[in-house]
Amino acid sequence: MTQTAKDRIIIFDTTLRDGEQSPGCSMHIGEKLRIARLLDDMGVDVIEAGFPIASKGDFESVRLIAETMKRAVVAGLCRAKSSDIEASAEALRPARRSRIHTFISTSPLHMKYKLQMPPEAVLDAIHESVSKARQYTDDVEWSAEDGSRTEDDFLCRAVETAIRAGAATINIPDTVGYALPEDYGAKFKMLMERVPNIGKAVLSVHCHNDLGLAVANSLAGLANGARQVECTINGIGERAGNAALEEVVMAIRTRHDRLPYETGIDTTMITKVSRTLSTVTGFSVQPNKAIVGANAFAHESGIHQDGMLKNAATYEIMTPESVGLTKSELVLGKHSGRHALKNKLAEMGFDFGDNALNDLFARFKDLADRKKNVYDEDIAVLVAEQTGRNFDSARVKFVSLHVNAGSHGPQTADLTLAVDGAERTATSRGNGPVDAIFNAIRQIVPHDGVVLQLYQVHAVTGGTDAQAEVTVRLEHNGLTVNGQSADADTMVASCRAYIHALNKLQGKEKRQAMGPNP
Ligand code: KIV
Ligand code: ZN
Repeated sequence: MTQTAKDRIIIFDTTLRDGEQSPGCSMHIGEKLRIARLLDDMGVDVIEAGFPIASKGDFESVRLIAETMKRAVVAGLCRAKSSDIEASAEALRPARRSRIHTFISTSPLHMKYKLQMPPEAVLDAIHESVSKARQYTDDVEWSAEDGSRTEDDFLCRAVETAIRAGAATINIPDTVGYALPEDYGAKFKMLMERVPNIGKAVLSVHCHNDLGLAVANSLAGLANGARQVECTINGIGERAGNAALEEVVMAIRTRHDRLPYETGIDTTMITKVSRTLSTVTGFSVQPNKAIVGANAFAHESGIHQDGMLKNAATYEIMTPESVGLTKSELVLGKHSGRHALKNKLAEMGFDFGDNALNDLFARFKDLADRKKNVYDEDIAVLVAEQTGRNFDSARVKFVSLHVNAGSHGPQTADLTLAVDGAERTATSRGNGPVDAIFNAIRQIVPHDGVVLQLYQVHAVTGGTDAQAEVTVRLEHNGLTVNGQSADADTMVASCRAYIHALNKLQGKEKRQAMGPNP
């Protein structure tokens, strides 16, 4: 079959908006930028960067991402309200290419109970919101919230109204993850057949995974005329999540015989983006998760291994390399110099000025002294540490740690921190060394009421000298933050990750106390 523009699927990533809305997944502005850069590099067509009216933080991150993206269109979400649309337009102003995405509910249930608006008023709101958005950009997307549960006649009228007002993309979300593939596909077929101006817009799928059908529903939409898929990395999102980008993209690539579409995604970046997101959010991927789970390419049983040795295609429908899963590559050792590190960083796509390179080199030397082999993954973690954490402006800084652990107990931690520039030391006991460290932090920087929601450790590479990458999630009065750190010593990484989270939490609380939304 020959490919035409009609077969090109637009990948719209909403990890930073719908994904970030899920509890515990909130990201700091620097972390969002880091993810956005990776999405841009991997070839995502549209990055939904946030909901600018929602908070000052959301507004700033949409603006920063708009300023930075090199090729992706940057989208901002808004309700059908003038103030929302104005905030989105303002946040998106620096973007090379921007999209305003406005939505309103169209199902009988949502219109009656949530909006408390009669259907005719909803049609007026669609007309007004899309027309208003068009004053700022030609690229306007309109979404029918709870579209999959909307009556056909009304959905046709709503879609026709949005297109007439100037929407170039029409999204029909399965907001509550209720649809079945056949019914969801039929909705698109019906719209293609019945809406007179449908040819002027691109139809889009947006599926939630409450019944585990988000990807199947998205593919059903494509089979019936949709040409944009809204999805998230690792399938993060409200409740059970959204359709996973990596699953949609790899399904299209692997089953091209039945799904004859193209995407612009560089699939070899999938593993890297997935891992970065897990680290940043503390949301680990289940081991048997399709495409990016730790076991997705593991062949354990003897029969399978035997078949794989004879011909990999016996049990492997896609190669690990196609999703960027390669063996850890030895890069540098303790004798490597500054120049070798600079070259390696350039090869990995990082460009550091002299000062930043000096700091990074010092951290690299420290790691290489403690760890025999330094791999690509180790370098990536060092870079993340350097770029993701604002050490200089942090109120609480790590100075030193000594831990007593082992079966003879008690486990104790002697910890020194610098708080507002002054060094303070504490010795604490705990149920295990990590507990002792966290108690020592609490002693030095009291923070009653803050709840430790997550403590997670993962090894960056194989081997017993692997760096431990630790994520700590703290919650206070509904605010949730994640802190990360990596070190060859798991206790040091745990301590630094806790301090990182605490600095973020206190910074966020301070900013919230200072002022309202834009
Ligand atoms: O699920 C949904 O309906 C949404 C819309 C706001 C696009 O996320
Ligand atoms: Zn959604």
